[in-house]
Amino acid sequence: MPKLAILILVCLLASLSSAACVTKRKRQAWHKFDNTQKLAYINAELCLMQKPATLGLPSAKTRFDEFQAIHQLQAYATHFVGAFLPFHRAILHAHESALRSECNYAGFQPYWQEQLDAGKFKSSAIFDPVYGFGGDGSGPNNCITTGPFANYTNHLGPSYENTDHCIDRKINDVMSAGSAQKEVNSCLAKTTWVAAWNCIEAQPHGGGHGGVGAQMMNGVSSPGDPLFYLHHTWLDKIWWDWQAKDKKKRLSEISGTNIAPDNIPGFPPRPPNIPKPTGAAGDPGNTTTLNHVLNMYGNGPNRTIADVMDIGNDILCYEYIEP
Ligand SMILES: *[C@@H]1O[C@H](CO)[C@@H](O)[C@H](O)[C@H]1NC(C)=O
Ligand SMILES: *[C@@H]1O[C@H](CO)[C@@H](O)[C@H](O)[C@H]1NC(C)=O
Ligand SMILES: *[C@@H]1O[C@H](CO)[C@@H](O)[C@H](O)[C@H]1NC(C)=O
Repeated sequence: MPKLAILILVCLLASLSSAACVTKRKRQAWHKFDNTQKLAYINAELCLMQKPATLGLPSAKTRFDEFQAIHQLQAYATHFVGAFLPFHRAILHAHESALRSECNYAGFQPYWQEQLDAGKFKSSAIFDPVYGFGGDGSGPNNCITTGPFANYTNHLGPSYENTDHCIDRKINDVMSAGSAQKEVNSCLAKTTWVAAWNCIEAQPHGGGHGGVGAQMMNGVSSPGDPLFYLHHTWLDKIWWDWQAKDKKKRLSEISGTNIAPDNIPGFPPRPPNIPKPTGAAGDPGNTTTLNHVLNMYGNGPNRTIADVMDIGNDILCYEYIEP
């Protein structure tokens, strides 16, 4: 082959490999991480907490806060709607990408295999003070006082308020039972997207949020606790496990309302400055479609729901490692 042709071929292959999903990001369970991997993840999150905000989002002072802002600003447009799981899939990917590109994290987003701890979060290794996220809250404000995140000041929340406060927790092992394997199994057995999504959003979603309590139980400001990302990655895996049972159908199966009800249990009332959701860019109707834009507020590229239906596609390019 002439040299030029070889050069062109090499360039073509290189450009293809940068766009195409070749090596998938491997998302593992937290309890399968060794201590070095655990500290690498924790330190990357601490790095996001130290980096100054750059996007001009209300009250956000750090990069960590800016991810919380995506959720706070859109809580009523992204819960109890068809976009619930796709939206969280997009936010998790943006967060994982920021840890890697802005904080030199060489690993991938771990998930919390909550069924192992259901009904006994209090004794979970995830709350380890050194190789974990610190323990339960204590004192009048339920502030966490141990672990790497004990001194972080949340600038957003609680709810729609933006006041400086600690990361708080109030572990509740009646609620954490909602993360049990039988709840997961019941969601995996659903035969339609609407049934599966409603099941996942009720329990196990409620199990992790209610089980950790306090900030995590706040439907608007819950990403103020870094455990949010491990909880939602587990839910994302449950959705994926459900999709993988019938990829032909479920990689494009989406529907559900775009209009969340105005009084969602566990959600503070929507203040007047937060508009009532009326659908999304690309998806102005009442029913969620694949064209629905998931707004990342600059924390990563906006995605459409179509972009995030297949975790192995060129945009997401990850896979779940069984625990
Ligand atoms: C949190 O602050 C206290 C008091 O300044 C300090 O003793 C402690 O080491 C800090 N903890 C962490 C994890 O930074
Ligand atoms: C969409 O829902 C709103 C109420 O949330 C209703 O007023 C409107 O008629 C619905 N539009 C369509 C096209 O169904
Ligand atoms: C993301 O989507 C929102 C809502 O449609 C839009 O206002 C914003 O301009 C988009 N951002 C980018 C970078 O495209």
